[in-house]
Formats: sequence, structure tokens, C-alpha cells
Amino acid sequence: MKVDGKHFRSIWRERGGWSVGAIDQRRLPHEFIVAKLTSCEDAAVAIRDMLVRGAPLIGATAAYGMALAMREDSSDAGLKRAYDTLVVARPTAINLKWALDEMRTALAPVDPVERAEAAYARADEIVEQDVEINRGIAGNGLKLIEAIVAKKKPGETVNLLTHCNAGWLATVDWGTATAPIYLAHERGIKVHVWVDETRPRNQGASLTAWELGHHGVPHTVIPDNTGGHLMQHGMVDLAIVGTDRVAANGDVCNKIGTYLKALAAHDNGVPFYVALPSPTIDFAVDDGIRDIPIEQRSGAEVTDMTGRTADGRLETVRIVPEGSPVANYAFDVTPARLVTGLITERGVLKPDRASLAAAFPERIVAAAE
Ligand code: MRU
Repeated sequence: MKVDGKHFRSIWRERGGWSVGAIDQRRLPHEFIVAKLTSCEDAAVAIRDMLVRGAPLIGATAAYGMALAMREDSSDAGLKRAYDTLVVARPTAINLKWALDEMRTALAPVDPVERAEAAYARADEIVEQDVEINRGIAGNGLKLIEAIVAKKKPGETVNLLTHCNAGWLATVDWGTATAPIYLAHERGIKVHVWVDETRPRNQGASLTAWELGHHGVPHTVIPDNTGGHLMQHGMVDLAIVGTDRVAANGDVCNKIGTYLKALAAHDNGVPFYVALPSPTIDFAVDDGIRDIPIEQRSGAEVTDMTGRTADGRLETVRIVPEGSPVANYAFDVTPARLVTGLITERGVLKPDRASLAAAFPERIVAAAE
């Protein structure tokens, strides 16, 4: 997608080179800084510290992390060490394990002398595959937006709501939840996006608003508590969110607060869709609410906020009384019954076991291995 007219991806391999560039998402929207990853450890830290974040981008970074590791030590022990280091970097997004499993399957049979080259080749494929998947999601989600346009009066705007950042910054390009929105915008459909700020890390206010703004998509940032009110007053036509893991039964794990938006959408008859790239399906998990591990992050994300002061400095301030305990559950699970549909690269599916299994049978086989 574009930043001031120039095309960017969130991660890339240096042209003809071995190191990896990534936009440092901790600094947005205040500073656009590119980080250089040169080791497996760099990749693991980038994921853990959320220099990169968003389920598909975590997977892509892990794939390049394996490639960087193979430059350092391409032995069987090196392969295992890299896998073990990266797989624990963040617990909830299943794309991390998916990408590492793909890399290990590709590299295990290769002679260690050729592993580094093979690792870069497979990581490049995973990155390109992410972009293709998101293009598929864009086309399938566009049909939902077009159906709303058909019901509206000529010239009226389609109002969407999204939570957290499931935009191009969370993937390699296009995003998942934002992919249909970018395509609709490109096709000249009038869209407007309500952007949940998404406390405590504010990925909506800091990242989604930044990328929509730089691509020229009309949007409004709202406090997290606003969605229900907007839905009651007919101001949301469609909610689309991303996901970090979808269980075999169609339960959807996503950024904390997604469940509350789904409840509000259900109560107000607002269609609530989840954009789902297939590497985010976890057929090994039967029941999302019971079995998906929910990351708990540092309390400092709740007690402190960072922003730019009027004189241009970046400053972190405390907003919670000293001594008050805080809790920071980073994700929640929306039960499948509250989800209208899953927008995948293979079409819009019902959020249930049979539909997921019929659309992605090869993932069931992989999960069983
Ligand atoms: O903690 P984050 O910022 O990695 O969480 C990101 C989300 O919850 C996204 O909605 C999800 O990863 C989907 S990304 C296309």
C-alpha cells in the first residue's frame, strides 16, 4: 500500500541481499523508521517487542528469522534452535507456528550446505503468498461492500468499523480486514472507516489511522467504547476485523475488545465479518474459547501512554494511580455464533467446522501431522 504516493511493504528482503528490512511499528505514527534485522535473535526480539506485529507479519518475520538463522548455523541443531527460539516469541497468533512449520518441512530434507539458500527461497514464497492471500480476501470482501452499495441511495457512503490493526502493517501488504476496503476505495466506492483506538497499545489510533490516512481512505478514530452507540444509530453498515487464530469450530481469537464489538453488532443486526487468511486457521484447536492461549502482556502497556507533546517531543506518561493493580489480556475469543461470516481467500464461509474443513482440507491433514 502507499505512504504518501510511494509503495511500501511492512517487511522486505534487501534487494539481492541477506538482511531484512521492516517498518518499526513501535514508532508510528510519530516516526517512520526502518529497522534492519540481521540475525535470528533480531527477528525473535522484533516479534516479542512488537517492532513487527499482526498475525501474518509475525509469520513472515519468523520465516525470515529462520533464513537468517541458517546463515549462522545451518546444521540440524541450528535448525532446531532457530525453531525453538522463534516459536515462543508470541503465543497467540498461530501464523508464527504455521510459518515455522513450513520452513522446517522445507529445510529438514535439504543438505545443510544448501539450507541458507533454500531458507531464503521458502521465506520469500511465504511472503509473496501472504500478499496473494490478501488479494483474494480483498476480492471476496469487496462483494459484501458492493452488496451494501446496491441497497443504499446513489452517492451514499458505506460505513465500516474495524478494531485494532488488521491492515497492511499487520501483513506483508494489503492487510486482511482492510483489503476489501482498499479495493473498494480503489474502485471508486465511497467508504468511511470507524477506527477503534484499541487500548492499551492503540494499534487502531496509531497504525490503522496512519495507514488509511496515508493511502487516502476517509476514516474517523473513535474511543473503544463508541462502537455500540454508532451501531444503535445506524452509523455502521459492516464490521470487519482480523484474527490471530480461528479454531476448528469457527471461534475467532482477535485483539482484546473484539468480542464486545461482536456482541454490539449482534444486538443491532450489524453484519460482523472476520477476514481470515488460511494460515490463521488452527484445526488442532477444537474449541477456541477453551483452548486458544491468551497472551498477557506487561502492565506498563495499561499504566503508561506515549505520545507527542505540543513541542514535538515523544513522552511517556502514567495514567493509573501508583499502586493500582492492572490486567493486560491482549486477546479475546468471539464465539462463532456472533460471527456473520469468514472472509477467506477461497470465498466467504460460514464460521463452522464443516465450512472451514470443506474449504481448507489440506490444513486438517497438516494439523494432524
Ligand atoms: O497484538 P497485535 O498488534 O499483534 O494484534 C494484532 C491483531 O489482533 C490483529 O487484528 C490480528 O493479528 C489480525 S492481523 C491481519
